[in-house]
Amino acid sequence: MFGFKFYTPTKVVFGKDTELKVAELVKEFGGKKLLIHYGGGSVIKSGLMKRVTDILDEAKIEYVMLGGAVPNPHLGLVYEGIDLCKKEGVDFILAVGGGSAIDSAKAIGYGVTNEGDVWDFYDYKRQATACLPIGVILTLSATGSEMSDSSVITKEEGLVKRGYSSDYCRPKFAIMNPELTMTLPDYQTACGCTDIMMHTMERYFTNGGNMELTDSLAEGLLRTVMNNAKILVKDPKNYDARAEVMWAGSLAHNDLTGCGNDGGDWMAHKLEHELGGLYDVAHGAGLAAVWGSWARYVYKDCLPRFKKFAINVMGVEDKGTDEEIAIKGIESMEAFYHEINMPTNLRELGVEATDDELVEMAHKCAVGVGGSMGSAKLLNEEDMLAIYRACK
Ligand code: NZQ
Ligand code: ZN
Repeated sequence: MFGFKFYTPTKVVFGKDTELKVAELVKEFGGKKLLIHYGGGSVIKSGLMKRVTDILDEAKIEYVMLGGAVPNPHLGLVYEGIDLCKKEGVDFILAVGGGSAIDSAKAIGYGVTNEGDVWDFYDYKRQATACLPIGVILTLSATGSEMSDSSVITKEEGLVKRGYSSDYCRPKFAIMNPELTMTLPDYQTACGCTDIMMHTMERYFTNGGNMELTDSLAEGLLRTVMNNAKILVKDPKNYDARAEVMWAGSLAHNDLTGCGNDGGDWMAHKLEHELGGLYDVAHGAGLAAVWGSWARYVYKDCLPRFKKFAINVMGVEDKGTDEEIAIKGIESMEAFYHEINMPTNLRELGVEATDDELVEMAHKCAVGVGGSMGSAKLLNEEDMLAIYRACK
């Protein structure tokens, strides 16, 4: 087991009606003037926003509002949010929504507390030294942004999608009421389950470290999400299934399932970020579309873990060669994606990519990771292109 840092400062308040605690929590963490940041309006339509603002009004907590964070949130709105916060003297951001609203809130928080252009952090030019405190009311179980140190923003010019990570942006509190996810379209629920699993799989497929406990947690989390994702296909209002998935979403990306590894692989995510940037696809669906091609490209270089995954997570029988078992594991993962209506290649994702576009994505991806990246197998630009071509 490698050494690690484990830091999850987020206070989680989980369960039915927990959004009613929002004023209490904001006060606990010193918020006096809020920016309430949200997405395209699902939280208004569902009535959640009214409930939240009524509670804040009653508690006499001041706020300004900024909606419009789109999936693959844009830098332009981040700049708008920074200006608004500075003008209004905002000292706390309340993100209400999914990963996009939360990530956009984190970027705004960096922009308010650091001098200069906030994109510099996403462009790996310098490091942030602070972030405004952030609280979250989560409406979509997926990214784990409610506890994570990351934020992913798309710069409209050149459609560059980049992530930036630092502990400063980890939310102070996360309100998680599984019932709030019941208004999600089925597609977004499935995308979320895919993303959750991928956050743990990125940490699982490594070539470093012997991690008995971490592996058991990871395998248990993956099995749990698979079981409950299948339940939600048939019974989307199932509270317990929603709750299992929601909690898994946070644990999958608060680093718990990576303790003791070498940092993880993360190439499926990097490959997907280019798809999200160029074609604006849902993150989880993009991940499902590239995963099989990535896995087939790298599994021989990470065979023991692909075998272990096949047996312990996908329930493949321990019979045949290691390679045969590993391939069966990959195939059954793809069958699971189909079972929850997720794509397993670009065509199924609805993307008709030209070869020039694949070349462009591979190039941007390589630049984005500083040349090469990956633990299951170290991938360079040529490898990235081969994977994009294989998943066409
Ligand atoms: O915008 P609204 O109107 O709210 O609608 C959203 C959006 O259309 C809708 N939605 C959310 N909650 C809902 C709902 N609709 C009905 N009922 C609800 N309860 O769902 C759609 C998708 O929302 P979004 O926030 O974009 O989804 P997600 O949570 O999957 O976030 C995706 C973004 O997060 C990034 C992704 O790359 C992508 O940009 N990621 C962030 C990470 C992090 N910060 O740690 C890690 C991830 O790997 C990921 O890269
Ligand atoms: Zn993700």
